[in-house]
Amino acid sequence: MSSLLSRLGADLPILAAPMAGGPSTPALVAAAARAGGLGFLAAGYQAPRALAGQIDAVRARGVPFGVNLFAPNPVPISTRAYRAYAAVVQPEADRYGLELPGAHPVEDDDAWTDKLDLLLSSPVPWVSFTFGLPGRAVVTALRDAGTTVLQTVTSAGEARRAADAGVDALVVQAAAAGGHSATLTPAEPPPSLPLPELIAEVRRAAGLPIIGAGGIATADDVAATIRAGAEAAMVGTVLLRAVESGASGPHQAALTDPAFDGTVVTRAFTGRPARALRNDFVDRFDAVAPAGYPALHHLTSPLRKAATAAGDTRLIHLWAGTGHRHARAEPVAETFGRLSGHL
Ligand SMILES: Cc1cc2nc3c(=O)[nH]c(=O)nc-3n(C[C@H](O)[C@H](O)[C@H](O)COP(=O)(O)O)c2cc1C
Repeated sequence: MSSLLSRLGADLPILAAPMAGGPSTPALVAAAARAGGLGFLAAGYQAPRALAGQIDAVRARGVPFGVNLFAPNPVPISTRAYRAYAAVVQPEADRYGLELPGAHPVEDDDAWTDKLDLLLSSPVPWVSFTFGLPGRAVVTALRDAGTTVLQTVTSAGEARRAADAGVDALVVQAAAAGGHSATLTPAEPPPSLPLPELIAEVRRAAGLPIIGAGGIATADDVAATIRAGAEAAMVGTVLLRAVESGASGPHQAALTDPAFDGTVVTRAFTGRPARALRNDFVDRFDAVAPAGYPALHHLTSPLRKAATAAGDTRLIHLWAGTGHRHARAEPVAETFGRLSGHL
C-alpha cells in the first residue's frame, strides 16, 4: 500500500478524477471512497457557496476526499481576435435566439481567492491544482492547514516546476485524458506521450509520488500505470456514465454512440486545449479557433448550455478521453471493481 494513499485510508489505488461542469457530484466522490479509493470534487466554474455546499455534502458522508481548483494561468486574447471568433460562431447561436457576449473578452480568475480562503478556513484532506501553478506561499499555507497538496502536470519540465513550488505529489496527466489538458503552457502544449512513458520521464525528473491519469479505462491500463511507477491511477471518462455521475444526458449518451467516431484535442470550445468527441462544432471551428482562456469559455458557454438543454450533441463540448467506449452505466463501485481486476 502506498504511503500517499494510506495516509488517507484508501485501500484501492484508484481515484475518481475531478470533472468540472457537473459530473463530479458529492455522491460520486463518496462512492469512490466507499469503494476503497478516493474522489475529488471539482471547484472549477462553481460559485464558492456552491462549492462549500458540495464539500459539506461529502463531509456529511464521513469519507476522505479532495477538492480540485483551476489555478489562474490565463491565455489572454486580443479584442480583435476575440470578436473575429465570436462573429464566426454567432450564426450557431442565432438558431437558439442567443446573442453571444462577443464584444469584450472576460478574463476572470474563477473566484480563485474566495475558493482558496474557503479551503484554508475549513481545510479538506487533499487539494489538487490544474491549469496553473499556485505560488509557494499558497502551497505552504494549505500544507500548514493539514492538507496534502497535488499538482497536475503534463511533462517532466512541469513536474520540476511543481516540485519547486513544494507540492506533496503529482498527478501526471497524459494527452489521452478527457477534458482540458492541465498543461501550464496551453498555447504550446508539450508533446503527447503514452502514460507509462510520461510517468517514467516524470519519475526521473522529480522525486515525488505520482498519480497517473489519462486514457485509463481497463484493468490492464490500471496495472500498466502502477507498473510504470505511479502510486495510483486516476480515472475520469470511464466514470462519466456512472449512476452517481452528474454528466448531462446527451453527454452520457454520446460517449457510447457509434455516430461519434473518436476524440480530438481542440481549443474550439474554450480557447484551451481539451479532448472531446469529434462533433460538428469541432469540425467547423477547430481550425479557426484562437487560443484564449477563459475568454472563449465565457463566449461559447451560453451556446453550449442551450445545446445541452436541447440535446443537440452537434454543439456540445463532449469531453471524453480515448477510453470513452468503456464508460458504463453502473455504480462507481462496479467500475472500480472491474478496474482493479489485475492488481
Ligand atoms: C468532463 C471532464 C471534466 C474535467 N474537469 C476537470 C477539472 O475540473 N479539473 C481537473 O483537474 N481535471 C479535469 N478533467 C480531467 C480529469 O481530471 C482527468 O485528468 C482525466 O479525466 C483523465 O483522463 P480520462 O478521462 O481518460 O480518464 C476533466 C475531465 C473530464 C472528462
